[in-house]
Amino acid sequence: MSRKPQPLKSIGSVVLVGAGKMGTAMLDGWLAQGLNSKKLIVIEPQPGKSLKALARRGTQINPKPGPKAKADAGAIIVAVKPQTAPEAVPPLGLYVGKSTLVLSIMAGRTIDFLEKSLPPGTAIVRAMPNTPAAIGRGISVAVANAKVSARQRKLASHLLAAIGKVEWVGEEGLIDAVTALSGSGPAYVFLLAEAMTKAGIAAGLPAPLAMRLARETVAGSGELLHRSALDAAALRQNVTSPGGTTAAALEVLMGPGGFDELLTKAIAAATRRSRQLAG
Ligand SMILES: NC(=O)c1ccc[n+]([C@@H]2O[C@H](COP(=O)([O-])OP(=O)(O)OC[C@H]3O[C@@H](n4cnc5c(N)ncnc54)[C@H](OP(=O)(O)O)[C@@H]3O)[C@@H](O)[C@H]2O)c1
Repeated sequence: MSRKPQPLKSIGSVVLVGAGKMGTAMLDGWLAQGLNSKKLIVIEPQPGKSLKALARRGTQINPKPGPKAKADAGAIIVAVKPQTAPEAVPPLGLYVGKSTLVLSIMAGRTIDFLEKSLPPGTAIVRAMPNTPAAIGRGISVAVANAKVSARQRKLASHLLAAIGKVEWVGEEGLIDAVTALSGSGPAYVFLLAEAMTKAGIAAGLPAPLAMRLARETVAGSGELLHRSALDAAALRQNVTSPGGTTAAALEVLMGPGGFDELLTKAIAAATRRSRQLAG
């Protein structure tokens, strides 16, 4: 019987820097994929209960960096807040060996910043995940610098797959638009649920009922979209009969100043802001 290769089982040590919301979601996924807890090193100023439990299974928490760590760091994952990067990234040079991959999920911190903060020639992947990562249903978009090998690219895909789907782009400039679409996107969907609740209340429904209806409609439709082989436009058409209630609403939503126009403007504004923040 042929077995799928399991890269997380076969790499050297994995150094996670920042075990906050994203870092912990990734960590849980790696362990579920079979990463040996003894191969894990976690750098986190305030280790919580679950990290302390991992320490009992052989994970090194905040070790004093030394030549031993450097010898086999397969991957270093940087999951601190972007504003912490100038203090958190340069010391990681101690862990960077010849075949080490550095994977950063920090919003707005460019490959150029990372290259300048790490030893020359470091293989770097910058990725942009989103919040559904917390339940393993995120989507990350990754871009690699010129030093990343095919093997390291595959490794980055496996590390990111712990929190959802993975896409690659060849041009770092696209990360601003990615940030605006999928990075900030969950907030647009939550806003949709909020707006539907308010509109339901305005149409005469009791507030708690309007909230439950909006929440389950957004969540259920998202799940249907996730499971269906059809695209969003086909699913929309399937629930729209000519002259019916959905058609009446869509005439407003798809008309002038409607969803398309608003989201194009919103995503352009977020793209501009992402560019500004990245400097
Ligand atoms: N959350 C999202 O939806 C999302 C989406 C896309 C990208 N990202 C990126 O993911 C990264 C992590 O986000 P998050 O939401 O997981 O943030 P978070 O929950 O604040 O996690 C950051 C963690 O890093 C720790 N930390 C602070 N200084 C450190 C240092 N010098 N060395 C090691 N660890 C340090 C923090 O500890 P303390 O709390 O003790 O300071 C915290 O546990 C950010 O760069 C963000 O831009 C997040």
